[in-house]
Order: sequence, then structure tokens, then C-alpha cells
Amino acid sequence: MANDSNVTWHEHQVTREARERLNGHKGCVIWFTGLSGSGKSTVANTLDHLLWGYGFHSAVLDGDNVRHALNAGPGILRDAHGDDFAQRFGLGFSATDREENIRRIGAVAGLFCQAGLIALTAFISPYRVDRDRVRRNLPDGEFIEVFVDTPLAVCEERDPKGLYKKARAGEIKHFTGIDDPYEAPQVPELTLLAGERTPEALAHEVIDYLVERTIIP
Ligand code: PPS
Repeated sequence: MANDSNVTWHEHQVTREARERLNGHKGCVIWFTGLSGSGKSTVANTLDHLLWGYGFHSAVLDGDNVRHALNAGPGILRDAHGDDFAQRFGLGFSATDREENIRRIGAVAGLFCQAGLIALTAFISPYRVDRDRVRRNLPDGEFIEVFVDTPLAVCEERDPKGLYKKARAGEIKHFTGIDDPYEAPQVPELTLLAGERTPEALAHEVIDYLVERTIIP
């Protein structure tokens, strides 16, 4: 594939199929979306641990961690690049910054997928259009949208990081679900009722889906 920027796409010698044969399963992106405190990261990590235990190859990308490096905003970037980089390229929580956050994560997850991994992403990803763009950029069937459907009242009650309290007090602006929108998926591949079941039970729901879709044997 070539375009007028003089940048050329290279096919790799080790094909995706060869990697998947070696791994014994297919690659895909399991995209968890839901409010802060809904349980996205917990379920993604529980699932990752279960998959690892079965000998499958997976990796988790999650909001807080990615916002400490790749997408770190000012005051957070702790690596050798320092705050100057974070000022220029770091991301906050405006709609535009969230859009770019999801675009970058989508691209990284796509690379994981090409490497044959089961990529687990746990981002609020509040805008439908941003999630749908990630879906469109992946081959059919490789984007599995999982709506972690925990009611706002439950997330707020849990408030594991005290952020809802701060948002209600006006100390954090544009907090998803309080004074910023969350657009729930309309036709997700899976909906998890994370206010009602344990992370293990929810992770098993995803595993059942992966087996049904022959992504894992
Ligand atoms: S997004 O919307 O997808 O770009 O957000 P994400 O990268 O997943 O980051 C969400 C975590 O950032 C913390 N945080 C906020 N969340 C929502 N709104 C605002 N304004 C905000 N400020 C900080 C919060 O800890 C989120 O973590 P989770 O794991 O979702 O609770």
C-alpha cells in the first residue's frame, strides 16, 4: 500500500496466520467500555489472568496506565521525556483529547492484534463515534465491544478513587457521567452487568463468547 506521503506499508515475513498457529488461538481486540468505576479494568485484568492461566497470549491496556506514559498529560509523565513532551503531546479529558486517546489506543491495540495477541482495552471511551472508528479500522469480527454496564449510582457509591466526590464538589470538571457525556454502545457484542456479578463470572462470560466465536479453542 502506498500513498502520496512517500510512506510505504511493509508486509512482514512472519504472517499473522503463522503467529496464530504458533499461539494456538486468534488475535482480537476486546474493547471494554463503561463509566469510571464500572469495573472495566478489574474484569479486563481478571480475564487476562484467566487467559494466561489457560496458556493464551493476551495483554491489557488500561486508561490510568496509558495516561501515565503514551498519553500522559502534564504533571504525570515520569520518563526521560519529562514534562515538555507532556505539554506538547499529552492528553487530558476534553472531547478532542479523549478522541485522540482512543485513536492512539485503537492503533496500539491493532498492532497487538496483528502480533497475534488478544488485546484487552479498558477505557471509558465515552463517545460512540470514537469507538466505531476503532472498529472500522480493524478487520471484520476482530473488534469485540464489551459494555461494562454498571449504573452510575453504583459507580458513584463505589468511588474507588474519590473522583466522583471531587466531581460533585466541582473540583474536577468534565467528569464522565457527571458533567460530561457517556454514550452507551447500541449493539455491543457483549453487555456485562458488572454491578450484579463477580469479576470472575463476568470474565467467564467473555471466555464463553471467545470460544463460541472460535477465537480460542
Ligand atoms: S477516556 O474518556 O476513555 O479518554 O478516559 P480514560 O483514558 O479511560 O481515563 C479514565 C480514567 O481517568 C481518570 N479521570 C477521569 N475520568 C473521566 N473523566 C474525567 N474528567 C477524569 N479525570 C480523571 C479516572 O480515574 C478514569 O479511570 P477509570 O479506570 O475509568 O475509573
